[in-house]
Amino acid sequence: MSNACRVVVLISGNGSNLQAIIDRQAELSIEIVGVISNRPDVYGLERAQQANINTKVLDHTTFESRELFDNELSELIESYQPELVVLAGYMRIMTQELVKHFEGKMLNIHPSILPKYPGLNTHRRAIEAGDSEHGSSVHFVTEVLDGGPIIAQAKLNITENDTEQSLADRIKQLEHTLFPKVIGWFAASRLEFKQNQTYLDGKLLSSPLLIE
Ligand code: GAR
Repeated sequence: MSNACRVVVLISGNGSNLQAIIDRQAELSIEIVGVISNRPDVYGLERAQQANINTKVLDHTTFESRELFDNELSELIESYQPELVVLAGYMRIMTQELVKHFEGKMLNIHPSILPKYPGLNTHRRAIEAGDSEHGSSVHFVTEVLDGGPIIAQAKLNITENDTEQSLADRIKQLEHTLFPKVIGWFAASRLEFKQNQTYLDGKLLSSPLLIE
């Protein structure tokens, strides 16, 4: 896999998105060279170990400040010499310095149809607002929380029977197709981040692509 795009994945939990990416490494021409979790003992670490991927825990609770944590995280990520950094359920706000350092090569998946509902509790907020639609977005990470240029989205209809949990589950199913697809575009050098905008195959993406 020597020509494969070197990817570091950051997680904080279960890692079902990580699994979807692990399962498609060959197809996407990527190699996950490291998985870093800010929480110990999460299932995502086991998933990586089962796939013989190097893992590291950097427990944020043992750092005195966000700055100190992110400085160490930045060095740890760099030690893998990645071409792409993927946030797959990584639940920490990053310092502007860290974000700037990896600008244009860091992708995040967020469970809402951004720009709706940046931040936490997106499923509850969509239900409480009486929305008929909900979904997930993949975007380049910039200094604005969940605010970088959106590359692609997947959507579903909210039904009367949906709960926070059912939406979380249904959205993850969509994410497992959406995220690998966008990562594959990046690995194939089809995606570019320039002046806070995204280009796919050299064309400016004026609105997010909808992935079915
Ligand atoms: C995913 O739904 C992802 O969109 C969300 O966390 C979940 C992680 O699930 N990310 C965020 O909320 C980031 N703000 P997973 O650990 O099973 O992949």
